[in-house]
Amino acid sequence: MVEEKPTLKLAPHVLNVMGEGAFTYLARAKELQRQGMSIVSFGIGQPDFDTPIHIKEAAAKALEEGFTGYTETQGILEARQAIAEYLNERYEAGVDPSEILITPGAKGAIFLALATYLKPGDEVIVPEPSYPAYPEAAKILGAKPVFVPIEWQGASKGFRINVDWIKEKVSEKTRMLILNNPHNPTGAMFSPREVEDLLDFARERGIVLLADEIYDNFVYEGEFRSVLRDPAWRDTVAYVNGLSKTFAMTGWRLGYLVLRREAAKVAANLAVNIYSCTTSFAQKAIPAAFKGPWEPVREMVETFRKRRDLIHSLLNEIPGFEAWKPLGAFYIFPRIKGLLEELNMSSRDFALTLLEKYGVVVLPGTAFPDKAGEGFLRFSYASSFDDIREGAARIKRAVEEMLAEKKR
Ligand SMILES: Cc1ncc(COP(=O)(O)O)c(C=O)c1O
Repeated sequence: MVEEKPTLKLAPHVLNVMGEGAFTYLARAKELQRQGMSIVSFGIGQPDFDTPIHIKEAAAKALEEGFTGYTETQGILEARQAIAEYLNERYEAGVDPSEILITPGAKGAIFLALATYLKPGDEVIVPEPSYPAYPEAAKILGAKPVFVPIEWQGASKGFRINVDWIKEKVSEKTRMLILNNPHNPTGAMFSPREVEDLLDFARERGIVLLADEIYDNFVYEGEFRSVLRDPAWRDTVAYVNGLSKTFAMTGWRLGYLVLRREAAKVAANLAVNIYSCTTSFAQKAIPAAFKGPWEPVREMVETFRKRRDLIHSLLNEIPGFEAWKPLGAFYIFPRIKGLLEELNMSSRDFALTLLEKYGVVVLPGTAFPDKAGEGFLRFSYASSFDDIREGAARIKRAVEEMLAEKKR
C-alpha cells in the first residue's frame, strides 16, 4: 500500500494496486548476489534459453535497413498475417489479420482487453491463484476483481476449475471471466470439458471470457483445448498470447490480442493513445518466429519436460512438500500447508527465509495474488538441471534445520 502524501494527491483507486512479487524477489536476489551470496533462482517465469538465431537476425536486418519509424498501431500487416496463419493452422480459428493487435508483451494485450470491455464498477471473476496482472489491471480501470479459488484435489489429481464455485460468484455486475490455460502459477492445464463449460457459461451470461494462452506450447501431457477452436469464439472471447515464452523473447515485449473486428478497432484507438505502436524492428521478427524452424522451441520444451520430472521428484523428497506433477507451463506449485503449520510460518515468511538464509528464490503462493495461494510455493523450473538439484538440496537442508530448531 502506498501512503498518500497530503501535497501530492494520488488517484485513490490506484493506491491499492500491487507490484508483482516475481519482480520484487528478483530485485532482492540481485542485491544479495551483489553482496556475494550464491543464489539459485526459481523466481521469475522466463525461459533461460536465448532467442533463436533466425529470429534475432530478422530484427537485426530490419534495424540495419532502417525500419525504425512508427508502424500501424495494430502492428505491421506481415506480422499479423503470420500470427493469423499460425492460429488458423493450429486451431482452425478463422482469424483475420484485422482482428489482431500486436502489443508490447502479452501484458499489454491483457491491459488493452480489460480497458476495451470494462467500465468502473464492473466485476471480473479471477480464478485464484492467478497471474497478478489481471486483477491489478482491473483495479487500475476502476473495476473490481472477484476471486474464486481454484480447487486443489491433492497431490495425485492437482488443480481444477470448479465451474459451480464460479457460478456462485457471478452477479449482475460481472462483465469478464479470466481463463489462463495452461496455468500460471499452478502448472495446471484445464480439460477440454472445463474449457467448453466456461465458454458455454460465459456465452449464456453475456460475459467476456479473457483467455490467456501464452503457455500453449508448453504442454507435457494431455489434450490442450484452445478457446479459438470454438467456431463462435467471436461472441465471447478476448484472446491473449505472445512470443515471450514460446520463443524465449521476454525482453522483446511482443504480445498479441485477438478480438472481433469492431472490438479490435476500439482497442486500437486506446492503444494509439497509450503507446502508438509496438517497437517497429521487433515486429519484423514475428514472421520469422512463426515461420520457423521450430526445432529450437521443441528442444526447449523437451528440456523443460525433463526438468519438470526432476523437480517434481526432488520436491516430493522434502519433508512436508506435496507436489502435483504439472501438465503445462513451466511452474510447479507444491503444497506445504502442514509444514508451515508445524513451523508456525506463512508462505511468505518461508519464502523470505529461503531467500535470505539459503539463497533460494521461490515465490510464496500468496504472490498470486491473494489468499488462495497460502500454504503453497511457486517454483519456475526454467533453470538448469544443476540449479534444480542444488536448489532442492538447499531447501531440504533448510526444512530439516527449521524443524530441528523448532524441536529444540
Ligand atoms: C499467464 C501470463 N500471461 C502473461 C504474461 C506476460 O507476458 P509478457 O512478458 O509477454 O508480457 C505472463 C508472464 O509471466 C504470464 O505468466
